[in-house]
Amino acid sequence: MSARVTFSIGLIAALLSLAGCNLPGKPTPSDIVRRPTDILDPVTLYSQNCAGCHGADGKLGPAPPIGDPVYLAVVNDDALRDAISKGRKGTAMSAFAQSEGGMLTDKQVDAIIQGIRQRWGQPQILQGVAAPPYAAKVPGNRQQGAAAFATFCASCHGVDGKGGPKVGSIVNPHYLSLITDQGLRTIVIVGRPDFNAPDWRNNVPGHPMSDQEISDVVAWLAAERPAHMAAPVSSSPTTTSSPGGLH
Ligand code: HEC
Ligand code: HEC
Repeated sequence: MSARVTFSIGLIAALLSLAGCNLPGKPTPSDIVRRPTDILDPVTLYSQNCAGCHGADGKLGPAPPIGDPVYLAVVNDDALRDAISKGRKGTAMSAFAQSEGGMLTDKQVDAIIQGIRQRWGQPQILQGVAAPPYAAKVPGNRQQGAAAFATFCASCHGVDGKGGPKVGSIVNPHYLSLITDQGLRTIVIVGRPDFNAPDWRNNVPGHPMSDQEISDVVAWLAAERPAHMAAPVSSSPTTTSSPGGLH
């Protein structure tokens, strides 16, 4: 018998004697461990699986502010389910559904969606507002995108997107290689209100971006993504085409 096995047996014996008269007692209710797939409380599910990236309150995290009420008014449940279940290949957003290799049941994914809507949604917030569609309906045009960028974005992000006095670069190759076209579109529509970045209505106050302008700006940004870095993939239908890198 090796010294290690002898040691282990000694350790077990010591633990047994420590546990004393409770052994081999019946399990108490607190001993019954819930299986992770039994958890259906949306707040617990969110804080265990999502808060680290999307923020405890669905904002102020490194990942998109999915608790933002404008975001929640633009995105529908199918698109949320798609992103959460399948993830976004090539980004930090992994697939959470068991059917996609993740840890969550479909019921748990639905519980998270309901919880997000219940806690942070304001269904009326875009009433009477002509909001752009969540997913691109028209293909983007990179040249037009450069013009749209100059009109709507350059005041803060600099003429070439490399940053200005207020904010950093959004054409950084590492940033662009870790975000999908839909991820960019989401930011252009919703902004980062948690970091004072305007939504599609407020880049130039009184002059909301059109769906076409949004698609064009995304196409321009996507074209800045270095060719040697594979574009991350959103399974959501985005029609934005990216004709390869500039660098
Ligand atoms: C009024 C200033 C302003 C305007 C105009 C503006 N932004 Fe921003 N943008 C910001 C700020 C502030 C941030 C947050 C910077 C940070 O992360 O600290 C930001 C962040 C971003 C990010 C990174 C978001 C993330 O967290 O992944 C992208 C991409 C972006 N902006 C794109 C655009 C595009 C495209 C336009 C034009 C359609 C635009 N912005 C217009 C201020 C602005
Ligand atoms: C390790 C970091 C990380 C974790 C954990 C994470 N996400 Fe994400 N999530 C991201 C990133 C990064 C993106 C942007 C992906 C892209 O570029 O399209 C994203 C995108 C999303 C989107 C789509 C946003 C859009 O474009 O409409 C949803 C919805 C979402 N996450 C929900 C969740 C939920 C719910 C959880 C927990 C079950 C979760 N995420 C956990 C990083 C994370």
